[in-house]
Amino acid sequence: MALTNLKTVLDQAEQTKTAVPAFNIDTIPATEGLLEAAEAANCPVILAIGQMAIREGRMAALADLARRAAESSRVPVVLHLDHSTSYDQIIRAMQLGFTSVMYDGSHGAFADNVRESLAVVRTAHAAGVSVECELGAIGGVEDGMSHDRLNLVDLDEVREFIGKVDCDALAVGIGNAHGIYKSTPNLDFDRVRACREMGAPHLVLHGGSGIPEDMLRKAINLGIRKINVATELRIAFLEGLHAAPNPDDFYGVLRSGRESVRALAADKIRIFTEPAEA
Ligand code: G3H
Ligand code: ZN
Repeated sequence: MALTNLKTVLDQAEQTKTAVPAFNIDTIPATEGLLEAAEAANCPVILAIGQMAIREGRMAALADLARRAAESSRVPVVLHLDHSTSYDQIIRAMQLGFTSVMYDGSHGAFADNVRESLAVVRTAHAAGVSVECELGAIGGVEDGMSHDRLNLVDLDEVREFIGKVDCDALAVGIGNAHGIYKSTPNLDFDRVRACREMGAPHLVLHGGSGIPEDMLRKAINLGIRKINVATELRIAFLEGLHAAPNPDDFYGVLRSGRESVRALAADKIRIFTEPAEA
């Protein structure tokens, strides 16, 4: 099936009170493992291309990989641009067939974030492309960029932002961070509840790697509909490569990396899509 857009899959997730996985893609074997897990669970999947892969010059090649994978996939696939801060890069992504883009204006002034997000929404929506925005800078190391500031989202800013910007999804800083957490995450679930109560668009949890299962479930039950995972997938891929029974069997090593990613993705999908306890 052809690529679909973010709003379509998140609207469906809202109906089932689940979350859609957004997995960053970097290599063919790992991407194959992600898609195998999504198809086995009959679960839509968001394939995200982040700034590190883009800095390596792989934006077009990975976009082609995702689009071809979507054509032969039994589940809906979204091709998503992750954490872009560049309007030009967003236009380039749309030319490459991305069906969803994230404009991340969270590290600048609020007024600038509103203005730039509005411009992205106007252009992307005219082309049927979904838009994710961000409020409350999410800390940690994302794709090689370190953001020490870890801001809890300002609820007054959320109220003002959603009144001005008609984005399809909103990433909010609730104590989550990119990369491996140095201690157990301390997520502010009251902020999730409050964002929902004020009518925020579909809420996104970044920094999914390392968040314990019970916290993920609680966040989903409160209304998180997209959860991003990257670091754990990369670690799983490398661990799989090293765990291959015969290090001299090149494709056997790649298959081992693929299987390691598939197993991790399957477990994330299980958590994200299991119905909440009654
Ligand atoms: O945008 C990407 C995600 O937020 C990745 O976060 O590497 O901590 O899983 P993570
Ligand atoms: Zn992120």
